Amino acid sequence: MQLHLSCWPEIEAYLAASKAIVIPIGSTEQHGPNGLLGTDALCAEIIARRAGDEAGILVGPTFNVGQAQHHMAFPGTITLRPSTMIAAMTDWAQSLARHGFERLYWLNGHGGNTATINAAFSEIYHGATFGPARPPLRCMLRNWWELPGVTDLCKQLFPVGEGSHATPSEVSVTWFAYPEAVKRVEMSPKIAPTGPIADAEDYRRRFPDGRIGSDPSQASVEAGGKLVAAAVKGVIAEFRQFAES
Ligand code: NI
Repeated sequence: MQLHLSCWPEIEAYLAASKAIVIPIGSTEQHGPNGLLGTDALCAEIIARRAGDEAGILVGPTFNVGQAQHHMAFPGTITLRPSTMIAAMTDWAQSLARHGFERLYWLNGHGGNTATINAAFSEIYHGATFGPARPPLRCMLRNWWELPGVTDLCKQLFPVGEGSHATPSEVSVTWFAYPEAVKRVEMSPKIAPTGPIADAEDYRRRFPDGRIGSDPSQASVEAGGKLVAAAVKGVIAEFRQFAES
């Protein structure tokens, strides 16, 4: 069940039974020579929507632009400054809380977002402390690749060349949902270099095609299907527990 594809009486009826919602959150940033710019937002969205369909969980609109300054030397990347993202997440949370939502499960697709998401949670809780007394609002952050069962599956599917950016796992998840996006691109070098990340220009100098430590030419629709199935199972179990906490 998706919020933006629902009518308000349906949300009112959902709230009578549950105060919890999943919000996919990601980024719009370069993902190497064969990965979609939307990869991080799409992975969270694909997994959240399937979990929503299977378990009757309400899924909010995707927060699809995040912390991507370090990818700005590659065309197509869009970034928010951290203060903008914190403000926007706070407004989303307050809007949902106004209607009675008390548990916001943010399913994240971008590692670079985590510090800012946690800062946004502090801002949200600050507002809840000093605002009018309301039932407690709780937020939870889960990176999809850290869901129970998923980390091990990534290692099993791609023991070499998983890397940390433009990974075969995340590219596979998007190809599973959008098979028309499959691109066969020869990677050179086969496995990308690794190293520290500074700003956008430094990033492009160190990682000229955008990848870090990965070989996403290994990505496949089949692997994506396995990863999505495992992640959906993990989200449903964890969300149910969080909703009742
Ligand atoms: Ni990514």
